[in-house]
Amino acid sequence: MNAGFVLNPLRAVDLDRASRLHREAFLAMGEPGWTRQDIAGLLASPGVAAFLLTESNVDVGMAICRTAADEAELLAIAVDPAHRRRGAARLLLGAVIDRVRGDGARTLFLEVGADNPGALKLYNSLGFETVGRRTAYYMRGDGPAADAFVMRLDFT
Ligand SMILES: CC(C)(COP(=O)(O)OP(=O)(O)OC[C@H]1O[C@@H](n2cnc3c(N)ncnc32)[C@H](O)[C@@H]1OP(=O)(O)O)[C@@H](O)C(=O)NCCC(=O)NCCS
Repeated sequence: MNAGFVLNPLRAVDLDRASRLHREAFLAMGEPGWTRQDIAGLLASPGVAAFLLTESNVDVGMAICRTAADEAELLAIAVDPAHRRRGAARLLLGAVIDRVRGDGARTLFLEVGADNPGALKLYNSLGFETVGRRTAYYMRGDGPAADAFVMRLDFT
């Protein structure tokens, strides 16, 4: 972890920053990324929590999750390409896990591209298990669609 990272709740005034982070993080995968309206819609829906990670006032990453009763879902996690492999996603996921547990979740689900080995390694290292596969789930620009793995983490 980097001692310079600062974690804050993602607020309505941060929508453009969050959208930029999401767009630039997913660009290489041929995904358009979320608009500020996409993110605003999520923030306004029940059970949603979101985080913005910065360092020296520079945007590093964001994460959004939703809790409904005892189940939660990681809706997005994105780290700026210039700040990868420095523990930002691990920190954001830790915040997500603390938050959804506090909100009453006993399980955290997520979906991840089968063509995304870095993210798969991250989730496996945190104890997520693969529990399903969705065929041709993610559009990848002009290329073939990618399958998604459904993963879950059960809290003890
Ligand atoms: C996946 C993503 C969020 C990881 O962010 P990050 O801040 O670089 O991840 P961290 O530095 O916290 O990595 C923690 C661990 O995850 C694994 N990991 C993360 N990215 C990896 C990569 N590209 N290749 C291999 N392992 C990787 C490693 O085990 C890493 O630990 P290490 O650096 O000590 O080896 C980031 O690459 C990203 O935003 N990608 C595009 C969006 C995306 O794929 N989101 C997830 C979709 S479900």
